[in-house]
Amino acid sequence: MSTVVLPGSFDPFTLGHLDLTRRAAALGHHVIIAVSHNPSKQGTLDLETRKAAITRTLEERDLSQSVEVRTLPRGLLVDFCRELGASAVVRGLRSQLDLAYEEPMARMNHHLAEVDTLFLLTDATLSHISSSLVREVHALGGDVSDMLPAPSMDALRTASAVS
Ligand code: PNS
Repeated sequence: MSTVVLPGSFDPFTLGHLDLTRRAAALGHHVIIAVSHNPSKQGTLDLETRKAAITRTLEERDLSQSVEVRTLPRGLLVDFCRELGASAVVRGLRSQLDLAYEEPMARMNHHLAEVDTLFLLTDATLSHISSSLVREVHALGGDVSDMLPAPSMDALRTASAVS
């Protein structure tokens, strides 16, 4: 079984992320979800809250055997992959815009350490879902509960109740 890293900020972890995770595991990989700090992004949920919501989701969906959650340390993703003996990075593509964003990163990771990126096309029914849009819709009072696993929804509600 090869280890692959699914990195991202997951702020919050959506049904699109869950679908990607499930499909990467179904291909026979041990999946490490690497949650980044991402200080450049205006986040809603802190790192530990995001990790806890993902862990609960994996438990609820019976994915804990094949998937684990870690913090992506500050530094290069390829160094983290090397440390874990991961053979590849997994990323989802919702559209050509995603490909434009992903392509230079994938090429850079290959240049730096010959780490390949496996791209999975997002399920068409989920391709409009992004963490940033979910945050925006939620902040403006819209219902995002059918775009998120329940633990992410709980985390979002709790965060907005205290802020
Ligand atoms: O879900 P996101 O926020 O688009 O994820 C971005 C992420 C975490 C994949 C990206 O920022 C990343 O790979 N960070 C690690 C830093 C790194 O290695 N940068 C140089 C290689 S491109």
